[in-house]
Amino acid sequence: MNRNDSCWCGSGKKYKKCHLDFDEKIDSIKFNKNKGQIRPRHKLINNAADIEGIKKAATINTGALDLAGSLVKEGIDTLSINDAVHEFIVSHGAHPSCLGFENFPKSICISVNNVVCHGIPSKKTVLKSGDILNIDITTDLDGYFADASRMFFVGEISAEAKRLIEVTREIMEVGILAAKPWHFVGDIGAVCGKMARENGYSVVTDLGGHGCGKDFHLDPFVSHDCAAESGMLLVPGMSLTVEPMINMGRKQVVVDADDGWTVRTRDGSLSAQWEKTILITETGNEVLAS
Ligand code: MF3
Ligand code: CO
Ligand code: CO
Repeated sequence: MNRNDSCWCGSGKKYKKCHLDFDEKIDSIKFNKNKGQIRPRHKLINNAADIEGIKKAATINTGALDLAGSLVKEGIDTLSINDAVHEFIVSHGAHPSCLGFENFPKSICISVNNVVCHGIPSKKTVLKSGDILNIDITTDLDGYFADASRMFFVGEISAEAKRLIEVTREIMEVGILAAKPWHFVGDIGAVCGKMARENGYSVVTDLGGHGCGKDFHLDPFVSHDCAAESGMLLVPGMSLTVEPMINMGRKQVVVDADDGWTVRTRDGSLSAQWEKTILITETGNEVLAS
């Protein structure tokens, strides 16, 4: 690309006034293969219009999560929550990204107690006092994706369950603080893993976060328990999720053989998860969806 060409990011600006310095900075970095360090591809970089698009999807996604949370109460089945959220997203002209994604049958994921993630909403799953649950919603609008999840609980829950929910949220937040430009994605997992262990919890590593913006699941894979300074270089304009899955017991998970989706803790222990989509900026990061 020549200095006066239109920049590859699609901004319409000249390359020399847009991402030339950025490319030179990446080219000057010595990637340490032993640490698994890799350079980010241009297609992972969002321009200003892309960021606006993700934010529009995120506004609907946030409303959908608010609605879902308002419906959590003893006696409601998770399919009813799914159906109300589906209606909300569709009525805003958007699409619930989970619906039909690799044949996922419903619009959102609701994961109760020992279900780690990808719980399928069902008439048969009726919420009762003492339950903890994760509701994970992704919305796409005009080709842009926003992905977030939150924990909720029903009636009275145990002190241990409450601590798991709160500490898992803090683990997500320290992970987000570690997501900085010109640092590596492994820094996120390094701080999340440390904090989980300090609290006596384990981190699921079979699944993780992901780039999210111009598609639902993009590179990099975001591990929540790994070595610092490993994996992909984080650069301004990248958007990704931080979504630690934290188990009270052991880290191992099993996928339901019948539905092919529901992920449970192998030992039956409780699991919690929070998720935000963030944008790497020049100075740190900005939350796009929560
Ligand atoms: N929203 C989930 C994530 O955080 C993905 C769910 S995929 C589905 O990546 F098919 F299970 F919906
Ligand atoms: Co999600
Ligand atoms: Co996600």
